[in-house]
Amino acid sequence: MIRIAAFASGTGSNVANLIGYFKSHPSITVSLVVSNVANAGALEKAKANNIPVLVLPKEKINDGDFIVSEMQKNKIDYIILAGYLKMIPLKLTKQFHNKIINIHPSLLPKYGGKGMYGTAVHKAVFENKEPESGITIHFVNEEYDKGEIIAQKKVAILSTDKYQEIENKVRALEQEWFPVIIENVILSK
Ligand code: GRF
Repeated sequence: MIRIAAFASGTGSNVANLIGYFKSHPSITVSLVVSNVANAGALEKAKANNIPVLVLPKEKINDGDFIVSEMQKNKIDYIILAGYLKMIPLKLTKQFHNKIINIHPSLLPKYGGKGMYGTAVHKAVFENKEPESGITIHFVNEEYDKGEIIAQKKVAILSTDKYQEIENKVRALEQEWFPVIIENVILSK
């Protein structure tokens, strides 16, 4: 079995989707859910599925040695970032080169970087009257924001769409594509 750890800080709709998708998968399993937020929705979903959780206290969030050793303890092969809002320690990116995958709710390089997460992304896309938005799934490596793009999926924005509609459309893409693309990456190695 190839073992995934999912890292999340938010409501956890992506983690919930991953857990559901891989639940009866023959060779890939979500084995650990990690969060820096004690009441993150992702942790509830994990517990409901008997998946171990790890809550990172403040002083451990940047402790590469600690996180690497937790990953080793849990025999983790891939790390999936699903709305995880903290930096990944260098030590972890070194240990998991091309084995950490992130999802970003825009078509990078547009609307990436500082402050660009959650609703802020969709508001900026709306204010700039973009004709389209989408998701970017990419590797997270030592050089921040330089990880190779694995896939982008686009959706058209209508002139009547407000930022909430844009967010809903992007979230629908996340649900449709994130698990499938993770599966493809893992099985093609
Ligand atoms: C998603 O939009 C994801 O693309 C981004 O953070 C959000 C997390 O949402 N990186 P959720 O916690 O999975 O519902």
